[in-house]
Amino acid sequence: MSARPPHLLLVDDEPVILQILRAVFAGEAVRLSACADGATAAALIESDPVDLLITDKNLPDISGIELMRRLKQRDPLAEAILITGYASVDTAVDALALGAFDYLRKPLDDVFDVRRKAWRALERLRMARENRQLLADLQRKNAELEAALAETRALQSELIQSEKLAGIGTLAAGIAHEVSSPLFGVLGLAEAILEEDELPVVRSHAREIVEYSENIRHIVQELTSYARASDVDDEEQTADVALALDDAQRLLARTAALAGVELRLQVEPGLRARIRGTELQQVLLNLIKNAAEAVIEHRPEGERWVAVEAWSEGGLALLRVHDNGPGIAPARLRQVFDPFFTTKPPGRGTGLGLNVVYRIVTRNSGQVDVDSPPGEGARFRVRLPRA
Ligand SMILES: Nc1ncnc2c1ncn2[C@@H]1O[C@H](COP(=O)(O)OP(=O)(O)OP(=O)(O)O)[C@@H](O)[C@H]1O
Ligand SMILES: [Mg+2]
Repeated sequence: MSARPPHLLLVDDEPVILQILRAVFAGEAVRLSACADGATAAALIESDPVDLLITDKNLPDISGIELMRRLKQRDPLAEAILITGYASVDTAVDALALGAFDYLRKPLDDVFDVRRKAWRALERLRMARENRQLLADLQRKNAELEAALAETRALQSELIQSEKLAGIGTLAAGIAHEVSSPLFGVLGLAEAILEEDELPVVRSHAREIVEYSENIRHIVQELTSYARASDVDDEEQTADVALALDDAQRLLARTAALAGVELRLQVEPGLRARIRGTELQQVLLNLIKNAAEAVIEHRPEGERWVAVEAWSEGGLALLRVHDNGPGIAPARLRQVFDPFFTTKPPGRGTGLGLNVVYRIVTRNSGQVDVDSPPGEGARFRVRLPRA
């Protein structure tokens, strides 16, 4: 309730009773109105909000109970105390049933009782209004929360949508990364053909171009099978590890990637893995290229090497690419396979090489990991099912 004093309306047709009531509340922190008939009281209730009505039940015109009804209509929380003349208990009970807070019995000989009941009614009114305010606040807060929740849901579904899109973007960039190396081979060979007069050499270049083009076609096919996840590639393909390594090395040799880097190769003869040759070539190419880049960056001069070893162990073909570069900080070991993770300056690296390696190896039921003991360079290890 606001700070203004509560408005009490006293209604009784007996002047003595009104006098007593006025006396009871004189000096209290209330605003008093008083009248002797129902019509005046009803008009007052309409024009000047009443907080507590103390009314005689039997008035000459409108009954006290009707006044109470009108009061509640104006303000359901407003309080009323009914004065019953020579009351039977029944009328008192009726009054309570009708929403009166309390009743007083004539004659009003206990002044304190009147005052106590009035203040109790006002206290109840104060609490009810406070509760109503709290409830309104609560409902408003609730509505705000619901709105926020709806907004969060909308955002979440947008986010899922954009994550899907980002996934497709990553995939597209990965495919571009994969395609770039065989494409580089095709271009290099085509240029060589333009300047070549010897037919057998031209033929051999052309054969290689066909191989690289097949590779590109296969990479693009992978995209279609990614789009239709259930489409299992059931052609069993196996790769000769030494051959794939040879191809990767030749492709790298056409670029300056290996300039001044010694490639130490140690491959178990006849070792075959259950993977397409072109895929294994991609894996080796990316690992060797990274290693060479790291070594060149780290050692402007002096000994630079990349070692590639491959051997069989049980049902597995194991490959290891090791270099004498700076190695990888422990905190980054987990990150290097993430798409777009790169420490290279913009334009030099996309951060997709190792992600492509990871995707190729895992889709062929293999595993790839890396360790980097301090001062020993990086050691990438690939396990693939042996053919
Ligand atoms: N042999 C390595 N030695 C040290 N750091 C490496 C080695 N291989 C990879 N890294 C680190 O992992 C990062 C990610 O390698 P990844 O091949 O995925 O991308 P990139 O080489 O940076 O770019 P891209 O391959 O697209 O040219 C590299 O930027 C580098 O920091
Ligand atoms: Mg790379």
